[in-house]
Amino acid sequence: MESSTNQRSDAPESGKIDFGFRRVDVADHTGLVRDVFDSVARRYDLMNDLMSGGLHRVWKAALQDRLKPQSDMTLLDVAGGTGDIAEGFLKRGGRDAIICDINREMLTAGMDRALDRGNARGPGRICGDAAALPVARASVEACSIAFGLRNVTRRTDALAEMHRVLKPGGHFICLEFSPAVLTQLKTIYDTYSFKVLPWLGQRVAGDAESYAYLAESIRKFPEPEQLATEMRDAGFGNVTQTPMSGGIVWLHSGWRI
Ligand SMILES: C[S@@+](CC[C@H](N)C(=O)[O-])C[C@H]1O[C@@H](n2cnc3c(N)ncnc32)[C@H](O)[C@@H]1O
Repeated sequence: MESSTNQRSDAPESGKIDFGFRRVDVADHTGLVRDVFDSVARRYDLMNDLMSGGLHRVWKAALQDRLKPQSDMTLLDVAGGTGDIAEGFLKRGGRDAIICDINREMLTAGMDRALDRGNARGPGRICGDAAALPVARASVEACSIAFGLRNVTRRTDALAEMHRVLKPGGHFICLEFSPAVLTQLKTIYDTYSFKVLPWLGQRVAGDAESYAYLAESIRKFPEPEQLATEMRDAGFGNVTQTPMSGGIVWLHSGWRI
């Protein structure tokens, strides 16, 4: 596993930022997010299946279908965690896949899982920040971020970085939870998010707080229109957005043109 301490000097170094429903110092945000994923890393995959009733696999398959993996394509999966997206990309015929995640525990849990399954030809793994990617400019055909952008401290820097690493004509897809859920689902979705998730987190991962953060961070994530604007500001063209499961999750697609 490689490591990066690359830093961008244009990122704001002070001020307050949302961490779930709390406002925290920008300087503390990345560490707090890291604590969340350090805490849940070993139970992360199991919790994903339990929390979503397996639906996260359907959402991730939709992302992989949209990327259309080919034997001449390399994918950079940012905030790739334990590696579902990158592994699926390779299985579907992609040439290479690299995961970049800020959290060593998540990367290590993914490597252990791959070894347990006997996956010899797995993705490469780099420990680094989405807002300062340790990857050369214009070096990959595709770049994805699944359920990661919501956790990134400097979102606009991360979008600019994901645009930078793409070759011209390259495809970017962000898969993310959204506050733009169908009105008919809101009451049951809120009850599930704020009551069931922390309860499940406590029972399975011994950590209610991290799963309360998950529910809160979704409510603080920008509406699809705002994210589309941020993607265009980062340089992406042909931006399209597709809701899934009643708007609980959205696919945001853009191209480096
Ligand atoms: C909810 S998990 C998603 C993991 C994986 N993409 C998936 O869909 O299962 C969020 C991931 O974002 C990573 N992350 C948070 N902030 C990051 C940052 N600034 N740069 C890179 N990764 C980050 C966390 O370490 C964690 O692995």
